[in-house]
Amino acid sequence: MITKTILKISFSTILQCHNKYKDDWGEFMSTILFVCLGNICRSPLAEGIFREKLKQHSLDGDFHLDSAAIKGYHVGKSPDKRAMMMAKINEYDISNLRAREITVSDFEKFDLIIGMDKKNIESLKDISPLIYHYKIKLMLDDYAPSLGLSELADPYKGNLNDFQTTIDHLEIACENLLKEFLEL
Ligand code: 4NP
Repeated sequence: MITKTILKISFSTILQCHNKYKDDWGEFMSTILFVCLGNICRSPLAEGIFREKLKQHSLDGDFHLDSAAIKGYHVGKSPDKRAMMMAKINEYDISNLRAREITVSDFEKFDLIIGMDKKNIESLKDISPLIYHYKIKLMLDDYAPSLGLSELADPYKGNLNDFQTTIDHLEIACENLLKEFLEL
């Protein structure tokens, strides 16, 4: 109970710490950056799934979403073909996304920077100025603790079933992430 209250307070603090993105009416938007190693599998799927959840609640205009890579191996490329295909089967469209590498300025611009595994979090903390470390979250640990997994497994060297599991886990985490905003 106390933990939940502390979490809520820290979440509200994040949202009050406004970023640079404004909507068409000049209102500040909440900003979320999803991050994984290559930005072609997990983080574009997270972005696509959360965008769809926002649309279902007519909240897409209130948020600026993006995703980025720790390493620039695939900069400028579309998501992995398997990620796009499995996204489509699950009624998400991530085909317009392009990989990019995270920059130091992202830590100022975004309210929340959500990594997919513990190595991502270590790298993010290495890149980020210390004052922005409070914005860094671990997707399943922070938003899907009921799965008991902490990390979102990397499906890159796996098969289509692994991509489906990635989507299933991200759907749970995105639903809870959205709930945090709706409860504010
Ligand atoms: P992601 O998966 O971090 O979920 O996008 C990977 C994609 C590419 C590589 C590793 C992981 N790679 O080594 O190229």
